[in-house]
Amino acid sequence: MVGSAQQLSGRHVLLGVSGGIAAYKAAALARELVKGGASVQVILTSGATQFVGAATFAGLTGRPAHTGVFDDAHQIHHVRLAREADIAVFAPATANLIAKFAAGLADDLVSSTFTCLTCPVVVAPAMHTEMWSHPATQDNIATLVRRGVLVVGPEEGELAGGDVGPGRLVEPATIVAAMAAALRPQGPLASRRVVVTAGGTREPIDPVRFIGNRSSGKMGYALAAECARRGANVELVSGPTWLLEPAGVTIHHVETALQMRDAVLKLAADADVVVKAAAVADFRPAVYHQQKIKKEHVELGHVELERNPDILAELGAARRRRQSDGGPPAPLLVGFAAETDLEEERGRDKLHRKGLDLIVVNRVDMADAGFNVDTNRALLLGVDGLRTEVPLTTKAELAAVVCDQIEALLVRRQRQS
Ligand code: CTP
Repeated sequence: MVGSAQQLSGRHVLLGVSGGIAAYKAAALARELVKGGASVQVILTSGATQFVGAATFAGLTGRPAHTGVFDDAHQIHHVRLAREADIAVFAPATANLIAKFAAGLADDLVSSTFTCLTCPVVVAPAMHTEMWSHPATQDNIATLVRRGVLVVGPEEGELAGGDVGPGRLVEPATIVAAMAAALRPQGPLASRRVVVTAGGTREPIDPVRFIGNRSSGKMGYALAAECARRGANVELVSGPTWLLEPAGVTIHHVETALQMRDAVLKLAADADVVVKAAAVADFRPAVYHQQKIKKEHVELGHVELERNPDILAELGAARRRRQSDGGPPAPLLVGFAAETDLEEERGRDKLHRKGLDLIVVNRVDMADAGFNVDTNRALLLGVDGLRTEVPLTTKAELAAVVCDQIEALLVRRQRQS
């Protein structure tokens, strides 16, 4: 239970309760949601108050439970509460409440609020078996399902008055799990495995010194966070940075280009998308000195370098091989090009040379774009001829534009397969 409830942490939940003996379970549901970190606003039909009082819910949620459309009428509760909700759940939902929802009736606070909702809605019916199996109820349920309402239950079991049969409210844990599922993103990135690289690499000269670059990792972290927000399973391969780990992302810390290569190649094997936002050092010192080099020694003045592998080009080449062998589809590849101008021709050349689907050419030489700042400007170029200029914007917004393009490419690929 706590697992699902935690997925609702920080969410505004509207809990509508109608009149049935199962209303006592709504109190347990409110408690679990609050324990999981959600803020819960309860609204009650007058029938519900016959079973559980508003004071019980107020005590459990820490906020007044509302019952009437005209209580504090100036606050227009039904409209405000519907706007505030990230998700609404109606448990227990009686046959009468379900009929009102299906018909669009708005004659009390709960039904009026329902007609204002734009967020995901979960309905958990509870009633006697005869009422549940009545064609009117079944038609009403079908109408709600067709309109996108998630109906959970009822289950078979003991009902009021000692009867047994279908009609019993499902347990709070089942309702919470359904709510978590209803909130899960449904777009093309949902449940995809995405590898994102971020930050710069450090190429050690000796235990103290390294060759590095000015990348802060902000762009890659923004991309990882946006992919996770869209429901992807994100593996973030990060060079050293002071940034906080984005929520819901699995992080792999690396330091050198070779370590990044190892991590990325392993993770890319079963990824759907690889986004290489990292600034990978093209060269590393040919020799690593185990002891700190003393400044009198000549070596520091002559650090011999050797080429690092180009991870992205390797992934592109592996993909070409898989395509010509008729192997399973390789991940979609998104590269970045750090440039001091938004030279389209150079971007297109990198796009084709490295075998990418999309390249984000971004400026790194301006006070408000590139390394260590929160804003950027970019030119997106795609294999499908896409060309999108993104004027100065936040890295979070640029990440959303890049994710929109990734989603469009995923949809296109799915149509072609
Ligand atoms: N990249 C990589 N491995 C490297 C170097 C770069 O995977 N050894 C990736 C970067 O993560 C980025 C893309 O390649 O997505 C382009 O990086 P860029 O800075 O433009 O470097 P180069 O392609 O090497 O081009 P240039 O000749 O301009 O340095």
